Amino acid sequence: MAAIDNGEINRIQQSANIVEIIGSYITLEKKGKNFFGMCPFHDDHNPSMSVSEEKGLFTCFVCHKTGNVFSFVQEYENISFIEAVKIVANKVGIELDTGYKETSKYDKHYEAVDLALKFYQNNLKSQEGLNARKYLQTRGIEDEIIEEFNIGYAPPNFDTITKLLTNKGYDEQLLIETGLSARGQTLYDLFRNRITFPIHNPNGKPVGFSARIYEDLKEAKYINTKETPIFKKGKILFNYHRAQNEARRVKNLIVVEGQMDAIRIYASGVKNVVATMGTALTEDHVKLLKKLNVTIILCMDNDEAGEKATIQNGEALTNAQVDLKILRLSGAKDPDEYILKHSKEEFLDAVNNSITYFDFKLNYYKKDKNLNKVDDISKYINQVVKELNKSNDSILIDLTVNDLAEKYGIDKNVLLNQIIKVETPKISKIEVRKEKKLSKNQKLSSVLLYYMMNDTKYIKLYEQELGYIPNEEYLEIANDILAFFLKYNYISIADFITYEISKDNYEKVLDIVDANIKIELKDAEYVGIVNKIKTWIDENKIEELKEKLVSVSDINEKLNITNEIAKMKKRMCQNEES
Ligand code: GTP
Ligand code: MN
Repeated sequence: MAAIDNGEINRIQQSANIVEIIGSYITLEKKGKNFFGMCPFHDDHNPSMSVSEEKGLFTCFVCHKTGNVFSFVQEYENISFIEAVKIVANKVGIELDTGYKETSKYDKHYEAVDLALKFYQNNLKSQEGLNARKYLQTRGIEDEIIEEFNIGYAPPNFDTITKLLTNKGYDEQLLIETGLSARGQTLYDLFRNRITFPIHNPNGKPVGFSARIYEDLKEAKYINTKETPIFKKGKILFNYHRAQNEARRVKNLIVVEGQMDAIRIYASGVKNVVATMGTALTEDHVKLLKKLNVTIILCMDNDEAGEKATIQNGEALTNAQVDLKILRLSGAKDPDEYILKHSKEEFLDAVNNSITYFDFKLNYYKKDKNLNKVDDISKYINQVVKELNKSNDSILIDLTVNDLAEKYGIDKNVLLNQIIKVETPKISKIEVRKEKKLSKNQKLSSVLLYYMMNDTKYIKLYEQELGYIPNEEYLEIANDILAFFLKYNYISIADFITYEISKDNYEKVLDIVDANIKIELKDAEYVGIVNKIKTWIDENKIEELKEKLVSVSDINEKLNITNEIAKMKKRMCQNEES
């Protein structure tokens, strides 16, 4: 495990209220002692995730995902354990005082991009950047925004950044891999005489640039970083790292095409905005959006391409069951122009008047048709019926059918006959941690360990009475529990999970918790389990002795072994009676 001390992590776990933290991702409702919500780890239709404030644990009764507050954040955000600890620490206001730094084999790549970012940024402020600054001014981009978005200027020379980074010891391969340089006769800069907009990954690290031309308009308007080991276009949305918290707070996120649109909207005070940078939403983009658990407001450019993109992205989002609204702005080609022409207030009004994806499609299908012609009416209605067949909303179906019947003079029943109830397709395969079939003895061990994870008195009893489980896997976990107790002098499942995370037993510990979480702890029952395990140990010994009996030839020794077996059997009987 990394350099954050386990004791420190436990302190964070204990300060964190798991209900509040999981509740910031999904809606939880109290039922009895526990809280319940829709499990985000499988395609849940009934609230099957239970969260115990007292135990600091969550568990899903359907997909069996189980863990503590860190496991939840880690799974939900799809990040490393350490990142999850940082997020939770941040939420509970604990500062991590470690010199800890996560290392990756791409550290140098990140460093190089960061250096380039800072160089471009400074360069914009220099004499050389004067015209670029003027351009930004004419577009109404204020200094504050230039600063906040780390906007910069790449000089016109052939190899400024290449030389700078080479002098700092970055080699040619790395410079090419980061997409900052390319190889011609010599190594040269990819971004020249352009305004640079850094692009960050969801964790907020700069990984690439989108660079805009501003005077010599013969070349491509934007050059974006190509695919690199740290810049995966399909996994990155411009401004996601800045927008995510605000989106969770206001429960929606605006998705636009261009980074200039995102910057304009952000600058007007609406910070829950990301840009696709002109590409269609990929499966990974959809995942990033879905995990925010907010309404997505899709606001593509006001042209035909933007309409097509709305349909394409709308399908991807709806299939993933993302709550979706569509925003179409009229009288301007994109949100940037709209806000400049109108006002922030008018833009916000438009956001509030976003329409459903269904309504958008009803309008969209009308566009290329003459609805005074029978032919086109028929085509249109067939398209609408196809959409209705995707819906489970009987009220929407009824309203739409009534409307169509009235507008186009069709018998309502004819329309209703076209509506076939279809099962909503299951999109996500349920990733289920299999409930393993356990033997009688495995079950005993599992319950024993669960007791031990709950209360130190059960650990002490184990030490006195057993000290051993005749199964290597479970024995290892028992030893880990003892080690935890020895080190910290208490026990808690939530903290023990953290302790196990770097060990091979992690999944097994989660299985044990998941299998037993509903049981009520009773001392007498525990004693019973301990005795049954004693019997199991004795049975094993008898087996061993029997094998020995076959292999020895000395009569006296045979007699001794037989006696010992008899004694053990007697003891076992007494054990069972007690
Ligand atoms: P401005 O003209 O500066 O307002 O930009 P815009 O956001 O209006 O750009 P546009 O709608 O034309 O394009 C949307 C996004 O697609 C941009 O933000 C870029 O990320 C990307 N894009 C646009 N043009 C190009 C190009 O020529 N090459 C590449 N690679 N990407 C582009
Ligand atoms: Mn624009």
